[in-house]
Amino acid sequence: MYQPAITGHGVFTPRQTITNDELVVAFNAYAERWNDAHAEAIAKGEAEAMGMSSAAFILSASGIENRYVMDKSGVLDPDRMYPSLRPRSDDEPGIMAEMALDAAGKALAMAGRDGAEIDLVICAASNHERAYPAIAIEIQKLLGAGGFGFDMNVACSSATFGIQAAADMVRSGSVRRALVVNPEICSGHLEWRDRDCHFIFGDVATAVVIERADEAQGARFDIHGTRCATEFSNNIRNNNGFLRRTRDQMEDRRDMQFMQNGRKVFKEVLPMVSAHILGHLADEGWTADQLRRLWLHQANKTMNDFIGKKVLGREPAPEEQPNILQDYANTSSAGSIIAFSKHSGDLAPGDRGVICSFGAGYSVGSVLVARA
Ligand code: COA
Repeated sequence: MYQPAITGHGVFTPRQTITNDELVVAFNAYAERWNDAHAEAIAKGEAEAMGMSSAAFILSASGIENRYVMDKSGVLDPDRMYPSLRPRSDDEPGIMAEMALDAAGKALAMAGRDGAEIDLVICAASNHERAYPAIAIEIQKLLGAGGFGFDMNVACSSATFGIQAAADMVRSGSVRRALVVNPEICSGHLEWRDRDCHFIFGDVATAVVIERADEAQGARFDIHGTRCATEFSNNIRNNNGFLRRTRDQMEDRRDMQFMQNGRKVFKEVLPMVSAHILGHLADEGWTADQLRRLWLHQANKTMNDFIGKKVLGREPAPEEQPNILQDYANTSSAGSIIAFSKHSGDLAPGDRGVICSFGAGYSVGSVLVARA
């Protein structure tokens, strides 16, 4: 058995941003047009007028101030309200591979490795731009990596589930050096015309290199334990899939984009996550007061504050539980890895932390790491 370690990590951040104010202007223009177009039905009580969104609500309900996106023009066009992403030909890299490659390049540089030294690529994300061939295999080819690759989807928990799969393979010796990438084009599966959720998501890609600790070229985080759990729930759901193309499903259907019952998610996921982390710590013989840092999934600030408090048994200091949510919004599986990548460099040898993601499924994954 080999000790697996994270030896590199990286974040690809799209160039375009949308502030809450910009988002609200576009949404409200769309809602006003919709209300005008349906004025008669609204007056007769046959339709409900759309409410206006507000930047103050978004900030107080979620902690989000800004999001990065691959295309803002389409999202902010009240006549369109979804990104304009150029369809790629089969002979050029896909958009997810391109985003992942940028993050992977940064992670590999940090690990002191090149693509040819990788023998496992996992593309773990909540939506994939095509069914097959796997995006991971395209990334494997573009990197010049060997071995094999595969895609996996556990929604917002994809990154930690991917890390568990890679760490287990490194531990057993079936692979030597793995790359786990999380390219998330959340702007493509968000319903930007739904006031209750139009502010939630942003786009990003993250990557981590996992290899044998004794082969690390530089600083590393040893992976002391991973734990994944799932429990079925319909409270976060997206029915989009290849069956969408059948004749009876061609019309615009709300369930073909991200849907959630946010209040229920909030209430049901919180106890699940804090119990999961505490159970994992106890089984590894770790105590919460030994944790220098919690890198949590980034969906909602209040939610993270609650989990941090439950796990530590006290209010976490801001540096103990860093949020990136204000800048990136919810980036699905990538959120906890952005937090880890941007807020782990200051830890000293021996410092311990937990990476934890949670979301649709329900699903929750935790990775206990210590700076070596
Ligand atoms: N602007 C202004 N008002 C809005 C609004 C907007 N964009 N969206 C909703 N409102 C209104 C609602 O209509 C409601 O009004 P009412 O009280 O008159 O009915 C009020 O604000 C509260 O809305 P609600 O949706 O209940 O807000 P909330 O406080 O529960 O916050 C979430 C919403 C989504 C931010 C929160 O529930 C959450 O974060 N849940 C967990 C999400 C999560 O983790 N999901 C996982 C995704 S991977």
